Amino acid sequence: MLSPVLALAASFALASAVTITDIQGPAFRSPFEGKTVTDVVGIVTAKSTSGFWIQGDAVSDDRVSNGLNVFTTSTTILDKVAIGDSVTVSGKINEFRTTGSGDLFGTEIEPSSSSDVVVGKKGNTVTPLVLGVDRSPPTQSLSALDVGPDGFLSVPNNQSLVESVNATLQPTEFGLDFWESLEGQLVTVKSPTVTDFENDFGEFWVYGDWPVTGQNSRGGLTMIFGPNGVPDANPEVVIIGQPLDGTKSPQVAVGQKFEDITGVVFQQFGFFYVMPLTAPKLASSPSFVAPVTNITASSGACQVTIGDYNIDNMAPNSTTLPQVAGHIGTNLKGPDIMFVQEIQDSSGPTDNGVVDANLTMQTMASAIMTASGVEYTFIDIPPVNDQDGGEPGGNIRQVYFYRPDIVKLAGTSPVGTALESTSVITESDGSLGLSLNPGRIDPTNSAWDDSRKPLVAVWEPVAEGGERFFTINLHLIAKTGGTSFEGDSRPPVNEGIQQRTAQVTEVANFVKTILAKNENANIIVGGDCNEFTMTRSVFAPFDDILTEVDVLANIPDVERYTYVFDQQNEQLDHLFVSSAIAGRTVQVQHVHVNQFAETIDDRGSDHDPSIAKLEIC
Ligand SMILES: *[C@@H]1O[C@H](CO)[C@@H](O)[C@H](O)[C@H]1NC(C)=O
Ligand SMILES: *[C@@H]1O[C@H](CO)[C@@H](O)[C@H](O)[C@H]1NC(C)=O
Ligand SMILES: *[C@@H]1O[C@H](CO)[C@@H](O)[C@H](O)[C@H]1NC(C)=O
Ligand SMILES: *[C@@H]1O[C@H](CO)[C@@H](O)[C@H](O)[C@H]1NC(C)=O
Ligand SMILES: *[C@@H]1O[C@H](CO)[C@@H](O)[C@H](O)[C@H]1NC(C)=O
Repeated sequence: MLSPVLALAASFALASAVTITDIQGPAFRSPFEGKTVTDVVGIVTAKSTSGFWIQGDAVSDDRVSNGLNVFTTSTTILDKVAIGDSVTVSGKINEFRTTGSGDLFGTEIEPSSSSDVVVGKKGNTVTPLVLGVDRSPPTQSLSALDVGPDGFLSVPNNQSLVESVNATLQPTEFGLDFWESLEGQLVTVKSPTVTDFENDFGEFWVYGDWPVTGQNSRGGLTMIFGPNGVPDANPEVVIIGQPLDGTKSPQVAVGQKFEDITGVVFQQFGFFYVMPLTAPKLASSPSFVAPVTNITASSGACQVTIGDYNIDNMAPNSTTLPQVAGHIGTNLKGPDIMFVQEIQDSSGPTDNGVVDANLTMQTMASAIMTASGVEYTFIDIPPVNDQDGGEPGGNIRQVYFYRPDIVKLAGTSPVGTALESTSVITESDGSLGLSLNPGRIDPTNSAWDDSRKPLVAVWEPVAEGGERFFTINLHLIAKTGGTSFEGDSRPPVNEGIQQRTAQVTEVANFVKTILAKNENANIIVGGDCNEFTMTRSVFAPFDDILTEVDVLANIPDVERYTYVFDQQNEQLDHLFVSSAIAGRTVQVQHVHVNQFAETIDDRGSDHDPSIAKLEIC
């Protein structure tokens, strides 16, 4: 038995023997959370205005990081440490996140006074771990907790919390586990490729020289299915934070390559970051010329070209209007019918009771004429003021721009109003029509609360010998307010998913009323669906009645995208067709006029337009 004095000495020795790897441990949360530890030894690898990072000896267990953030805003402490210093730090171990944020925790040690940080030998070097050489991120799943057939897109959402489960890490399997296992460590990302434009803080997503999935021809990563049939969450990308030395990163574009980036892995704002020691340097850029579709004009009464474009809060005086007009007239070569979303009323976002969009639509049609010589006329149904969501006062709505030399609205029914519901009718000559053309689907149904109602129309070609076809222009409820893909809630919260599913169900039911009268009816449904078809639960109501044109045209999975957000390129905009059209030739192209831009500010809209050429007889 030890004497009391020796026992005390032994416990001091134990306390002072706490290492960074002891503090990090193999799980999401530190075994020392809430405890005060003394004399943790490490070498300073990086500094910020709110602390610095230290790195100690590694252990052979890949689950355990040997880096740690020292949180302090004390200038006395910050002024006395420099990169390369050997230091001992005492302080409290916190798992920190902004209260109520739903982020993962970041592990930190917080010294309580200047004497808690003691500087020893200077000029030490820490060799960064080279990602892609020493360790590579997994490429499919973010978390073991993303259970369900649609992986991280499964419903119900938020069935468990990473930080409550506090699992031991599986860094070769799951992205959150991988990045957590490197938390606080100095790493190098070799030959990074950019996968998104920078955010408002100048931060941007990259993958390095390591295996990736979903790589598209631009160099971005597209959200696709994994080999196991589950949506792939692209955990192999990481966000590059603001440079720690106060320099500024350049603006970035999808597909650009940078020189190697060295920095520390850090958890903040709902994501795992690499915080670069200094501003990354651009190595190469792809072409920024806006592509032009190679889909040619329709010919004859049996062909129609359909464009689809969310033009992002377009007001009559929007600076982006001439550019978007050029996209429609020139880059899409003036499709016969454009499904447009986000036309604002004639007073733009001014919340003054104006709901008609005549000025906005006329300004757009004139600009398309100026840009390309293509003549469009247009039709919409103004919403009830401030009842369809979007920017307050903007009254965004779907509009059809169409070429009066090629197509016309079929039949003699009147145009619907905001609260009237259209229905399928059989006209005196036996052809199917609409009681209101165009009209809205069941606009007072709660599925459409604070959201855009579908705009349904029935058309016929101007040329003799064609057939009628129905179109449904959609702008489903937005995702705004969901949780980060790298956040605590698993599966992540997909805001609006219940309402979006109800909206798809309503649209499917309407399509069924057409098909009940004629199973060979030509029906084209689409627009900004604010959802990926990989969230299969949302689109399940379409399963037996509509097929996406991308599938019919065999567009490679990695080229199916119209948007870029956080980690990846993704498809929010879709066109679906009934079996009559699906059985004939289908061409489609997503024309990346905006995702191929040189800067985020050079874009005409946040979405890319698409064009399809379809046979209606
Ligand atoms: C998390 O797991 C670690 C390692 O198993 C354990 O030491 C720690 O106490 C756990 N923390 C919480 C809050 O569950
Ligand atoms: C997720 O569920 C937890 C309860 O398990 C709850 O506290 C939290 O607010 C939920 N998060 C979101 C974003 O709904
Ligand atoms: C258009 O170009 C793409 C490649 O960008 C090609 O795959 C496709 O076959 C072309 N389509 C037509 C109609 O020429
Ligand atoms: C458009 O007009 C509105 C209202 O007159 C004004 O507030 C806004 O600044 C204008 N926008 C541009 C881009 O000129
Ligand atoms: C907008 O145009 C429609 C159709 O031409 C017309 O009926 C309506 O009076 C116009 N509204 C305004 C406010 O000019």
